[in-house]
Amino acid sequence: MQRLSLWPVVLGLALAMIVVALVKPVEHSLGYASVALVVIGLIGWVMEAREVAGPPPAVEPEHEEEEPAPGPSYWPLIVAAGIVGIAGGLVYEWEYGALIIALPLAVGAAAAWGEVVRREIAPSPGQEEAPPVAPPVVVGGRVLMPVAPNVLAAQAAGGAAIALERVGPRPISRRNLLRATFWVGLGAGLLAAVASIIDFMYPRGIVGFGGVINAGSVDRYPPGTKTQVPAGRFWLVHLTAEQGGPGILALWWKCPHLGCTVPWRPTFTFTDPGTGEAKQGWFRCPCHGSTYNDAGVRVFGPAPRSMDHMEVTIENGQISVNTGKITKGTPDNAQFAVKV
Ligand code: FES
Repeated sequence: MQRLSLWPVVLGLALAMIVVALVKPVEHSLGYASVALVVIGLIGWVMEAREVAGPPPAVEPEHEEEEPAPGPSYWPLIVAAGIVGIAGGLVYEWEYGALIIALPLAVGAAAAWGEVVRREIAPSPGQEEAPPVAPPVVVGGRVLMPVAPNVLAAQAAGGAAIALERVGPRPISRRNLLRATFWVGLGAGLLAAVASIIDFMYPRGIVGFGGVINAGSVDRYPPGTKTQVPAGRFWLVHLTAEQGGPGILALWWKCPHLGCTVPWRPTFTFTDPGTGEAKQGWFRCPCHGSTYNDAGVRVFGPAPRSMDHMEVTIENGQISVNTGKITKGTPDNAQFAVKV
């Protein structure tokens, strides 16, 4: 049966990479495309190693036959290039980096596939020749025949004198060299691929909740105001000195009790346990009545703690809230308010 060629698959993969890179650029795409290169290199390496090893012998030879010196193999180079590409892709956030791998890969695969087809259509004279036969071993004008171990053992049991030839250290065969380098390459390739996958899974550039929200200029939030920012699911509170500030606090609107959204109730009146006086305006959870003051500090209800708050940064008058960095609420919430 005709052996399947790897090249059409490689060509298809490379073309797919080109299309993906052009339709939807991806950060670190050089690294992801290089994973494909490493996989292709390893598959080619395996195919070459199997070809060199040939079919398993019917009887295990007593001595490994002398093999020709190792010839140059380009698969390790492809795997190495892939590993370098993965490393480069992890460092540079180049959106079109995949094309560095995909374009030459497509050209190379198309050329190699064309060569395979050309050879199949017009086989070269060398291919029609009979495979070379290993020359017989001749010592002192006599042809030596290999002896099976069981025959040797039977002769020794019968009292025959047996002379053993001292064999010097054998050079590393091409098969063993390929085998050893393959496992090293496989390990390095897998390591690089795992690094690339971890990089891919790592959250970055998140927009909306979970990422950094630009809340705009501090002028939009006068002292004493509470502004709901739906994109980040928080209340931006500008605390006055009387409220524990001054400064800006981002309170996560999720109630620490069972997760209901906590609204600001400007007309709700409740006795402040700190002063013992009635005060108007509280964060009040509609689900079970947990009540929090201006800084989100719990004063009443089943909530186990005060409202959680997010990291606030103010630079050049612009407020950024990192909704991925949430600190559990405590009675000291107001201390986290960032001064304007
Ligand atoms: Fe808010 Fe229960 S969910 S008090």
